[in-house]
Amino acid sequence: MNKKGFLISIEGIDGAGKSLLAKNLSNKLTLKNFDVLLTNEPGGTSLGKKLRKILHEEKENVCDLAEFLLFASDRAQHFKQIIIPSLKDRKIIISDRLADSSLAYQGYARELDIQMIKNINNWAMHNIEPDLIFYIKIDIKTAIKRIFKRNETLTSFEKEKTNFWQKVLDGYEKIFKNRKNIVILDGMLSPEKICDLAINSLINKISK
Ligand code: TYD
Repeated sequence: MNKKGFLISIEGIDGAGKSLLAKNLSNKLTLKNFDVLLTNEPGGTSLGKKLRKILHEEKENVCDLAEFLLFASDRAQHFKQIIIPSLKDRKIIISDRLADSSLAYQGYARELDIQMIKNINNWAMHNIEPDLIFYIKIDIKTAIKRIFKRNETLTSFEKEKTNFWQKVLDGYEKIFKNRKNIVILDGMLSPEKICDLAINSLINKISK
């Protein structure tokens, strides 16, 4: 296995538990002697960190289309600088969010042109698709409760109204309905259980 690297993305609404799964998965795989790279969008590169700050703090100065293009810009840099070299190094790459976040948030929730988003995503990603996507599914009420419990300053996305969250959630449902390489995980399970289920699906997939 692992002849040319393996790209995993983790998707879900804010508060679903993606970052925790990404960390747990990375730790467990490292213990099993896999060569793992943990990364994220937005913010996986130094350019991305600057873009992430703008995206989190300055929504009022950024129109919806510019918002998507900033995420796409982050993605282009991320693929060029981190993902493509790591695939060449045969690593298992775990990315906390990738292109499907733009489809769900900017496409379905902000209602930008879905086909344009797909085209620009493909361009930014050199037509590379994740080998496996973990989608953590959770209801909006639980997600919001978790976000407020963190006691951190809310990002411009986290300040959105329930209506926005519903559109993101419905968007994810549509995106993943007929997608191959998708594993849906129940976000209400314990973080340990979610990680175990993810590891099992991963091992199953890479041993094929
Ligand atoms: P971040 O602090 O990284 O949160 P999370 O841990 O939830 O990923 O913030 C990223 C935010 O940006 C998050 O609210 C989702 C949003 N986002 C988009 O709207 N489009 C995108 O393409 C990406 C990658 C993220």
